[in-house]
Amino acid sequence: MLDTWLTRELGITVPLVGAPMGGRAGGTLAGEVTRAGGLGLIGAARYNTPEWLEAEARTAREIGGGLLGFGLMTWSLADDDSLLGAVLALRPRVVSLSFGDPAPYVERVHEAGALAISQINT
Ligand SMILES: Cc1cc2nc3c(=O)[nH]c(=O)nc-3n(C[C@H](O)[C@H](O)[C@H](O)COP(=O)(O)O)c2cc1C
Repeated sequence: MLDTWLTRELGITVPLVGAPMGGRAGGTLAGEVTRAGGLGLIGAARYNTPEWLEAEARTAREIGGGLLGFGLMTWSLADDDSLLGAVLALRPRVVSLSFGDPAPYVERVHEAGALAISQINT
């Protein structure tokens, strides 16, 4: 157990978050990261259907338990933010809003009871 803000906030044992990768990080990878003590994030891409997201969330929870997160490309929400609604309907603990300004969406994430995080790449 490594005691950090992240481990305390999420109740995890390793301060490690799996990179969300659209088309690559689905429920199996996310579930395994969580099972190993970190937090797995499913990469939610614009082409993912709500049915696919639900199935991947189920897989992740079967493998890793209840703790689950999603990562979205924030720029992709500008024209159509329905992907965020589909993700929040699955009651994730964490939503990552990276590659764009997360500010317009943070309140919705909080209202859904999730933690909003953002990757800082530079
Ligand atoms: C194939 C691929 C797909 C990615 N898709 C997403 C995505 O959907 N959402 C996101 O926030 N980041 C996405 N990323 C970025 C990663 O989450 C991460 O920021 C990036 O890989 C840098 O981390 P690294 O230095 O550990 O590789 C993707 C990265 C890769 C390689």
